[in-house]
Order: sequence, then structure tokens, then C-alpha cells
Amino acid sequence: TMEQTFVMIKPDGVQRGLVGEIIGRFEKKGFSLKGLKFVNVERDFAEKHYADLSSKPFFGVLVDYIISGPVVAMVWEGSNVVVTGRKIIGATNPADSAPGTIRGDYAIHISRNVIHGSDAVESARKEIALWFPEGPIAWRSAVE
Ligand code: CMP
Repeated sequence: TMEQTFVMIKPDGVQRGLVGEIIGRFEKKGFSLKGLKFVNVERDFAEKHYADLSSKPFFGVLVDYIISGPVVAMVWEGSNVVVTGRKIIGATNPADSAPGTIRGDYAIHISRNVIHGSDAVESARKEIALWFPEGPIAWRSAVE
């Protein structure tokens, strides 16, 4: 089924120059880019994005990491993009992510794992609404 997912290149992915590589993998698979922005997120926003994990012992570390530098927030669309996108990304723990996946190729640490992708259609819908409240495309007009 045609669906959308939310993908975020985390601060380590940006700092290590992996933005083009990551976007290229989604493009070459055949998915369509529907929204993209470069964002510094504030603590309260990161806590909201990861609210489901607020009781985890690593929550503080996770939030500190996400706010440590700019991230690339994207909306990708295509057939089964939520599940297939997570296959392209690879398992959360880089020790389990297969070579050929983004995390398998570029990450060795579970809390610095380069990229985030929504885990279900419903969480994608929530995350897209949170990150792109004005819609995925920015419109600019000289006439105000
Ligand atoms: P992500 O796909 O963004 O979803 C939640 C994130 O929590 C996950 O990627 C990891 O970066 C992080 N995470 C999950 N488990 C751990 C852990 N045991 N220690 C530190 N960070 C973790």
C-alpha cells in the first residue's frame, strides 16, 4: 500500500557527511521525497518525539544526543515505505544490523546510530504531524 514514513538523519549522520549517501539510498530504491528540512531541535521537542521512551534508562542520553547538532527531517513516500524503509535503515542495535543496511554499514554504537525511521504507519503519521505541522513543503511568496 502507498504510505509515508518519517526519517531523521541524526546529528552524527550529519556531522559525518552521510546525508547524501542516505538520501541516495532511499531515492535509488524508488521512494519519493515529499518533505525535507534541516533542523536544530530543542530539548522539549526531542522529548516529545521520543515520548514513548521516556521511562527508558537511556532517555536522557538519547535526548542529549538528538539536540547536540542539526538533524535532517524527511518525509518519504512509496509502497510499504515504513517496513521497507526500516529494512534499508537496519536493526536499531548496530551489532545486529546487517552489512548493506545504513546502520550496518555506518554505525557501531546503539545510541549513535545515524538515522531514525518510523516503526509503524500510525507512528509515521504522528511524527510527520509533529515535525511538519505546516505541511511537508515550505511555500514562499514575495507577495505577503
Ligand atoms: P531510534 O530508531 O531513533 O529509536 C529510539 C532510539 O533509542 C534508537 O533509535 C536508539 O538510538 C536509541 N536506543 C535504543 N536502545 C538504546 C540503548 N539501549 N541505549 C541507548 N540508546 C538506545
